[in-house]
Amino acid sequence: MLNGKKILLCVTGGIAVFKAAALTSKLTQKGAEVKVILSESAAKFVTPLTFQVLSKNDVYTDTFDEKNSKVVAHIDLADWADLVLIAPATANVIGKLANGIADNMLSTTCLAVTAPVYIAPAMNVHMYAHPAVQKNLQTLANYGYRFIEPGEGYLACGYVGKGRLEEPETIVDILEFETSAEKPFKGKKVVITAGPTREKIDSVRFLSNHSTGKMGYAIAEAARDFGAEVVLISGPVSLSAPTGVGMIQIESAEEMYQAVLHEFEGADLVIKSAAVADYRPKTAYDYKVKKLPGEQLLELERTKDILFELGKIKTSQVLVGFAAETDHLEEYAKGKLERKNADMIVANNVKSEGAGFGTDTNIVTIFKRNGDPIELPLLAKKDVAQRILKEALTFFKDDLNENC
Ligand code: CTP
Repeated sequence: MLNGKKILLCVTGGIAVFKAAALTSKLTQKGAEVKVILSESAAKFVTPLTFQVLSKNDVYTDTFDEKNSKVVAHIDLADWADLVLIAPATANVIGKLANGIADNMLSTTCLAVTAPVYIAPAMNVHMYAHPAVQKNLQTLANYGYRFIEPGEGYLACGYVGKGRLEEPETIVDILEFETSAEKPFKGKKVVITAGPTREKIDSVRFLSNHSTGKMGYAIAEAARDFGAEVVLISGPVSLSAPTGVGMIQIESAEEMYQAVLHEFEGADLVIKSAAVADYRPKTAYDYKVKKLPGEQLLELERTKDILFELGKIKTSQVLVGFAAETDHLEEYAKGKLERKNADMIVANNVKSEGAGFGTDTNIVTIFKRNGDPIELPLLAKKDVAQRILKEALTFFKDDLNENC
C-alpha cells in the first residue's frame, strides 16, 4: 500500500533520531520513495550520510543548499510529497509549525506542503504534558495535521511515561492503514452533533443529562477516516477534540440549533447523536438564586427540536437521528423517523447492558424507511460508527462506486 508513495520524512533533533533511520529503511522496503530532511540538531545525532544510504536519495539540511538550479528545493520537495511524516517531532518543531515559523529547511518546507502531514512526537514526559505543547498540538490538529501518538515507557532522559517515539514498525502500520483505508466519503461534508446540552437555571445551575459524547465523537473520527470533511458540534464533554475535525463547542439546545443551521446548507450528511434537552427553564437568572422556605416549582418551556426543524427544510441532505429509548424501541424509533422526516434512525435501548451513555460499546438497531430494521450486535462504538456511516452511504448510491 505504500508502494510507489512519495514520502517526505522530516527528522528533528532528539535522541529518537536513531529510530528514524530504521523507519527510513522500513519505508523503502515497503516500496515507498523516501526523501529526508534533517534539522541541524538531528544531524548532530545521526549524520545525513546514514539517511542518504538508506533512502538512496539526497538528504536536505540547509535551505540555501540548492542541489538543482532548475527548482527551489523547499517548494519542489513540498510539491513532490504524497505524504509528509515528521518523526521524531520535537516540542520545538511542533511550536514552530503551530505558529507558522519558517526558519530552516525543514520548517520552511513543511509550511509549503499541501499533502497530509503526520506528526510523531517524541520528548520528555513533562515536556509533552506542558500546556504550551498541548496547545500547539491542538492548534495543529485544528489545521488538519494527523498524529502518531507517542508511546509510554522508558525514556532516554531516565523518566518513565508518555513521550517515546512510536516504534518504526507501528508507524509504518499506521501509515499503511491510513493510505489504504477506503475513502467513500471523499468530497462529502458530514455534520455531527454530540454530547449533552446544558440549559441554564441560574449562574451556577443547569439542567442536563448523562450523555458523554462517546458515540458522536466515534462517528466524527470514523467519518474523517472515510475521507469526509467533518464538523463536530459538541456539548460540554470531557473528551479531547478528534484531530482533523472542525470543532464547534456549544452549551445550550438553542446554541446547538444555531450552529447546526449555520452548517446545514453545505452539508451532505447530518448525524444528530446529541442528547438535546427537550425543555429549558423559562427564566434563566444571571445570579445565584437563593433558597427559600418550602417547595419550589421550576417552570420549563420547550426547546426547538433540531432534527424536526432540519427535516422541514432539508433539500439534498441525508438526515440521521438517534433514538435513546427504555421501551417500545421499534415503535418510538419508527415514529421519530416519520415525524422528524429523517432518512435513518439509530435506536438503542439505554437500559441494555453495554448500550447507552458512558459505555465504550453500544447495541443499536438501524431503521430506514424501506427494508427491515438492521439489528447490530454488541460492538465497540468505533465499529458502530463505521456501520452507521456505511448504512448512510447507501443514500449516496451514485457516488458509491466512484470512491469505494
Ligand atoms: N433531537 C433534537 N432536538 C431536540 C430533541 C431531540 O434534534 N430538542 C434529536 C436527537 O439529537 C436525536 C433525535 O432527535 O437524534 C431523537 O432524540 P430523543 O431524545 O431520543 O427523542 P425526542 O425527540 O426528544 O423524543 P422523546 O423525548 O419523546 O423520546
